[in-house]
Amino acid sequence: MFDERLKTGPVLALAPMQEVTDGAFWTLVHQYGGADVYWTEYFRVHSSSTPETRIIHAINTNTTGRPVIAQMIGNDPAELARTAKFLQQLPIAAIDLNLGCPAPIVYRKCAGGGLLREPERIDAILGALRDAVRIKLTVKTRLGFASADEFDRLLAVFAKHSLDALTVHARTVAQRYRLPVHYDRIRQAVQTMNCPVIANGHVYSAEQAEALLAETGARGLMIGRGAIRSPWLFTQIRQRLRGEAVRHPTGRDVGGYIRALWDTQASFATAEKTHCDRMKKFLNYLGEGVPGPFLQQVRRSQTAAEFERICRDFLDHDRPMPLLPAELTHELVSA
Ligand SMILES: Cc1cc2nc3c(=O)[nH]c(=O)nc-3n(C[C@H](O)[C@H](O)[C@H](O)COP(=O)(O)O)c2cc1C
Repeated sequence: MFDERLKTGPVLALAPMQEVTDGAFWTLVHQYGGADVYWTEYFRVHSSSTPETRIIHAINTNTTGRPVIAQMIGNDPAELARTAKFLQQLPIAAIDLNLGCPAPIVYRKCAGGGLLREPERIDAILGALRDAVRIKLTVKTRLGFASADEFDRLLAVFAKHSLDALTVHARTVAQRYRLPVHYDRIRQAVQTMNCPVIANGHVYSAEQAEALLAETGARGLMIGRGAIRSPWLFTQIRQRLRGEAVRHPTGRDVGGYIRALWDTQASFATAEKTHCDRMKKFLNYLGEGVPGPFLQQVRRSQTAAEFERICRDFLDHDRPMPLLPAELTHELVSA
């Protein structure tokens, strides 16, 4: 199915997100319609690494019925090839290389986004991986380290290695998560590469997703924070692409999603405060889409009772909720 979708498009992917996109989150997103393909959190690869058992467990117990792509982060061609050879025996559709992580602890070791400063090393890694990987090989990249102009050179390296797909998060590493997203560079990748290109970065509504596919010519969209904020987004995009009316969740629907997160995402926590802190990881994104001081109150909450009270105060209603990111919500409020 992933192969077909990659050929015809558009493929909708849930982005890899460290400490968010575990198997429980895939299962939950899937209950709201779900992505066409799920990326794992990254496997850390170095000379003494063994693949993380919790990510292997997520792959082996994937309940979505949709394909999974295993992502690796590292900088040593031989070690990455060694790990890829192991991972490709698991039930996965492809192996993906992370070339975008902007965390200083990662990029200072010349991994993730740090590798974008060394195109020759990327060339060597992709050569080693292409030799080792018998299944599909994909890359997820940012545009460059300091400047989007670095992308020209990087694309030339990617184009040498017959990749099966390239996901472009159209920001530089230095930009981290700030706007603007340089969607014109995704179009450039589509025109340059011989493989399908998946567009990533700040996809937040069905209407904008449709426009982005048309503007870039990308074969698909990868969605990260937008899917935490609204797991309905994948279904809404499909509705929009079919020419149907897009259905927004009501306040009570959103409350139901928060309860499902509470039940599935923090059940390991014995202390109530730990449970609340884990929830804040998700609600920091979801809360952006809820008008009023919902997020401020959530951030201060320490108990399940407080959590429930806040959800009741803000979400016990049947009005539709577009769940847009903060900067757009502010625009709408101040307009
Ligand atoms: C909490 C968090 C964790 C992330 N972890 C990863 C990761 O493990 N691998 C990766 O390639 N990108 C990671 N990313 C980046 C996302 O996959 C995505 O490229 C980025 O968030 C932009 O897409 P979005 O605007 O739809 O969120 C992470 C992003 C967030 C917010």
